[in-house]
Amino acid sequence: MVGTIAAASILLSFVGAASSLPSELSARAPDVSFSSVCANISQAISSQSNVYQPLSFQYAADVAHWASSSSDEAACSVEPGSAEDVSKILQILGSTSTPFAVKGGGHSSNPGFSSTTGVQIAMTRFNQVDYDNSSQTVVIGAGLIWDDVYDVLVPQGANVVGGRVSGIGIAGFTLGGGYSWKTNQYGLTVDTVQAFELVLPNGTVTTVTEANDDLWFGLRGGFNNFGIVTKFTLKTVPQGQVWGGLITITADQLDKLNVAVAKYSANVTDPKAAILPTYNFVLGEPGVSLIVFYDAPTPPDGIFDDFLDIPHFTKDVSTRSFTSFINTTPANATAGVRALFTNVAVTGYSESLLKLIVDESVHWGLSLALETALFISYDVEPFLPSLFSHGSNSAYPPDRSRGLLPLNIYFTWALPTSDASMLAAMKQS
Ligand SMILES: Cc1cc2nc3c(=O)[nH]c(=O)nc-3n(C[C@H](O)[C@H](O)[C@H](O)COP(=O)(O)OP(=O)(O)OC[C@H]3O[C@@H](n4cnc5c(N)ncnc54)[C@H](O)[C@@H]3O)c2cc1C
Ligand SMILES: *[C@@H]1O[C@H](CO)[C@@H](O)[C@H](O)[C@H]1NC(C)=O
Ligand SMILES: *[C@@H]1O[C@H](CO)[C@@H](O)[C@H](O)[C@H]1NC(C)=O
Ligand SMILES: *[C@@H]1O[C@H](CO)[C@@H](O)[C@H](O)[C@H]1NC(C)=O
Ligand SMILES: *[C@@H]1O[C@H](CO)[C@@H](O)[C@H](O)[C@H]1NC(C)=O
Ligand SMILES: *[C@@H]1O[C@H](CO)[C@@H](O)[C@H](O)[C@H]1NC(C)=O
Repeated sequence: MVGTIAAASILLSFVGAASSLPSELSARAPDVSFSSVCANISQAISSQSNVYQPLSFQYAADVAHWASSSSDEAACSVEPGSAEDVSKILQILGSTSTPFAVKGGGHSSNPGFSSTTGVQIAMTRFNQVDYDNSSQTVVIGAGLIWDDVYDVLVPQGANVVGGRVSGIGIAGFTLGGGYSWKTNQYGLTVDTVQAFELVLPNGTVTTVTEANDDLWFGLRGGFNNFGIVTKFTLKTVPQGQVWGGLITITADQLDKLNVAVAKYSANVTDPKAAILPTYNFVLGEPGVSLIVFYDAPTPPDGIFDDFLDIPHFTKDVSTRSFTSFINTTPANATAGVRALFTNVAVTGYSESLLKLIVDESVHWGLSLALETALFISYDVEPFLPSLFSHGSNSAYPPDRSRGLLPLNIYFTWALPTSDASMLAAMKQS
C-alpha cells in the first residue's frame, strides 16, 4: 500500500510537470475576420496593452487553464493594461459581434467559460495589491491569484477571505461566491467585497458599490454576465499564525475516518475550525487527503483529536504562517490534465453519506479504469450551516435562509476521447 501511494504521488507530480507545456496548441488557421478584429484591437489600445498571436509564449500563457480541457485556440489573445483599454476592446468586440472570453486565474473547469475560439482577454496585467491599513481594505487587480494577495497581506498581519489552495484566480472565485477557510467566520468572499471597478458592455468604466442595486446584486455571484471587472476592493481581516496542514489516510482506516468526519460535521461549531477531506481513488486504492485548519496558533482540545488519533500515511500539521499552510495543499499536483468539477449541495455529512462516497469513488475508479481516468475525487466540505448568514442578498447563493454544504465531485483524465464518458459518469454519480 505504501508503494502504491508513493507511486501515485510520483505519477501526479509527473503529470503536474508535464502540464506546464501549453495545451492544445495545434496549427489551425484563425478565422480571417477574427484576425482583422485582432488587428483593429492592436491599433486601438495604448502602449500599456498588447495583442499576441498563436505560437507566441504570451499567447500560450493567456489561453492556458488549470484544466487543459478548459482551454481553446483563440484567434489572438489580448492583455489589457488599463480599464480604458478594456473599454476600447469591448467596444470593438461588441460592434463586430466577435466571440470573446475573459480569463482571471484560469481555474474554471467549465469549457468555454474563460476560453474561446474568438478573442481571449487575459487580465494578467491587473496585478495591484494595495492594502490600506486605516480602512482595513485592500484593492486587488483582477489578474492575480490568491497566493499573490497572501504574500503581501499575511506578513502585515492581515488577510482576506480567499482561496483554500494554491494557484486559484481571485476574479472568477470572487465573482462566483468564494468558499474560504475563513467562511465560517466571515461568510463567502462576495460577502467581503466593498467595491468593484467594472467595464460595462458598452465600454463605460464604473465603480459598483452597495449603492448600485442591481449590479451590486448581480456581480456578487453572477461571474462575467455584467461586464469585465478590473479590480476588487475587499475587506481585510486580522491574520496571525494558524494551525493545520495535510494528513493522508489509507483505505484500511476509512471507516474510522468516516466516524470522525460525521462527528465533526454534526458537533463542531467553532467558526475558526475547518476541515477538507477529499475522498480519492488513485491507482487502484481509495484514500483520503485531509486538510485540517484552525485560525489561531493552537486549536482547543477536542476538535481535531479524533483525526490525529487515526493512523496516517503522511502528516504535515503544525503551527505555521497562513502562507505556509496554503502551500501544503496539493492542488497544483493535478494541474494541466483534463478535469471537471461539479457540485452537489448537501445539508450535512452523516456516516452513511460518507460511506456512500467511498463506495462511489471505488465504483467509478474501477469502472473508469479503461477510460483514461487519472484521479477520481469527492471533496467533502462540512462548513457550518450558518455560512450564508454573513452577507446580504446576492446572485449567489440564491437562498440565504438555510446553509447548503458543497460536495464537489472532481474527476481528471488524460485524453479528449474520454470527455463524454467522464461527464456521463459524473452526472450519474
Ligand atoms: C484547484 C482548485 C481549487 C478550488 N478551490 C476553491 C475553493 O476553495 N473555494 C471556491 O469557492 N472555489 C474553488 N475553486 C473554484 C474556483 O473558485 C472557480 O474555478 C473560479 O471560477 C476560478 O476563478 P479564476 O479567475 O481562476 O477562473 P477563470 O477560469 O479565469 O474565470 C472563471 C469565470 O470568471 C469569469 N471572469 C474571470 N475574470 C473576470 C473578470 N475580470 N471580469 C468578469 N468575469 C471574469 C470568466 O469569464 C469565467 O466565467 C477551485 C478551483 C480549482 C481548480
Ligand atoms: C477595422 O478598422 C477599420 C478602420 O477603422 C474598419 O474599416 C474595419 O471595418 C474594422 N474591421 C473590423 C473587423 O472591425
Ligand atoms: C495598522 O493599524 C493599527 C491600528 O489601527 C496599528 O496598530 C498597526 O501598527 C498598523 N499596521 C501597519 C502595518 O501599519
Ligand atoms: C452605458 O451603459 C450604462 C448603463 O446602462 C449607461 O448608464 C451609460 O449611459 C451607457 N453609456 C453609453 C456611452 O452608452
Ligand atoms: C456528537 O457528539 C455527541 C456527544 O459527544 C455524540 O453522542 C454524538 O454521537 C456526536 N454526533 C455524531 C454524529 O457523531
Ligand atoms: C501553484 O501554481 C501557481 C501558478 O499557477 C504558483 O504561483 C504557485 O506558487 C504554486 N504553488 C505551489 C505551492 O507550488
